Amino acid sequence: MPVRNLQYYAQTVPDLEVGRKFFNDFGLETAERDGMVVCRCAGRDQDQVVLVEGKRKRLHHVSFGAREGDMDELRSRLEAAGAEFAGAPEHFDRGGIWFRDMDGMLTNIQAAEPAPWDEGLAPDFNTPTRHPRLGERTALIEDPPVRPRRLGHVVLFARDAAGKQKFYTDVMGLALADSVADFLHFMYAPTGSDHHIVAFAKSGGYGIQHAGFEVGSTDEVGMGGRQMVDKGYIASWGPGRHGPGSNVFFYMRDPWNGIVEYFADMDFIPEGADWNAENWASKESTVVWGTSEPKDFPTNFEILDGPGMH
Ligand SMILES: [Fe+2]
Repeated sequence: MPVRNLQYYAQTVPDLEVGRKFFNDFGLETAERDGMVVCRCAGRDQDQVVLVEGKRKRLHHVSFGAREGDMDELRSRLEAAGAEFAGAPEHFDRGGIWFRDMDGMLTNIQAAEPAPWDEGLAPDFNTPTRHPRLGERTALIEDPPVRPRRLGHVVLFARDAAGKQKFYTDVMGLALADSVADFLHFMYAPTGSDHHIVAFAKSGGYGIQHAGFEVGSTDEVGMGGRQMVDKGYIASWGPGRHGPGSNVFFYMRDPWNGIVEYFADMDFIPEGADWNAENWASKESTVVWGTSEPKDFPTNFEILDGPGMH
């Protein structure tokens, strides 16, 4: 049995306080731990982003969860695939398997249950035929700050995106949900998960293209974006709705040209589903509505030097 969920990701940033403020403004709760900044979603007892002080913004590692009883099999599969096992980095010594993949990307698999998240309902929504909100204004008028419920996925840069897809299929036990030509591959967990918990985008080296955080409704996607723009952050792309995954999205630039996403209403693929992966390169657009993808959206700033790198 495979890896079944994404636990958290860690990245180095040159200024922990700037990073803490960014994720706080984005709607996460932040705390100091062992000289690092740990970001969590309100109502969820699980690390989602860990910021480690470093020279520049760079993906540090990604952590996945698996069942305790599946750890030995995962370890033997990794051994058979020739994975380079590694020790846990300082302050991350909570066990599990640590290895560097073919790109040198540090990866962790831990025996873990995904922690429950805030299940508070979205406000009632009138449609042409059903009016559950009768004689009332929308509760959205109160305009509370948007607080993401959970980290849903990471899209990772990879030198060989197709090779990484194969590794994550054969060794990690995930499955292909959809792809775009030969440069973007979305993977889900066959034990039941969102349309993607991880995806691989072709680049000159590993890195994180964006991290997606689920919010309570499509309205909250728009409200979250406005919340960030009002605070002076730059919108990278959105709002809009994707073809692959179907989610409504709004992407924001962090202070180091990284990207985080508010998303809602993503496809969910349950265990045993008969899901047919499509290649979206044959379609006119990967966006159902919203503007086209900006040119710099797939740029891997983690391996570039020059303007934009602080
Ligand atoms: Fe996303």
